[in-house]
Amino acid sequence: MDIQQIFKNNQAWIKDKLNVDTHYFENLSKGQNPDILYIGCSDSRVSAEELMGVAPGEAFIHRNIANMVPNSDLSAMSVIEYAVKYLKVHHVVVCGHYYCGGVKAAMESQDLGILNPWLRNIRDVYRIHKEELNALTDEDSRYKRLVELNVQEQCVNVIKTAVVQRAFRERKFTVHGWVFDIHSGKLIDLKIDFNDILEHVMEIYHLD
Ligand code: CO
Repeated sequence: MDIQQIFKNNQAWIKDKLNVDTHYFENLSKGQNPDILYIGCSDSRVSAEELMGVAPGEAFIHRNIANMVPNSDLSAMSVIEYAVKYLKVHHVVVCGHYYCGGVKAAMESQDLGILNPWLRNIRDVYRIHKEELNALTDEDSRYKRLVELNVQEQCVNVIKTAVVQRAFRERKFTVHGWVFDIHSGKLIDLKIDFNDILEHVMEIYHLD
């Protein structure tokens, strides 16, 4: 990749934006008021804003390998705290994607060094849903289902946080589980039954 080209692209982009609206950057600099927190995978093919069709300022974004929300990950926890408590977003989305390399790696037994503890979080998802996953004899179906179940479990991790539980009590607030299908470009709503999950999760994780 020609890094200099990126700066040329940037100049062209500035020109494009100003052509449409001469106050574009002036307005952008006034502050942000996103209504959605998007937690997705770092995969270079899954570009959050582009696949959702949102403009700068509309979505608060957090990305890491395999769209994880580990309970002790200071980065993910800080992003959720900031987005929900201060930006007061009404939606938190965990968006996975089929053919996720992180999920694939967690399904294999290779020692990947520093990645091991990260991928172990996905292995935990496999363990929780082992029965359902092992019943799928087709490797590709199992891989896809683990992507979906991982999204579901990361949504549960979002709901475990005190700030999200407070938001549920105090205002209109929703957590969504989505999957991006790289093969078709489609964004799929997993329509996770959060009332059911909430009931189960709250029994154990309820925070005042
Ligand atoms: Co991925």
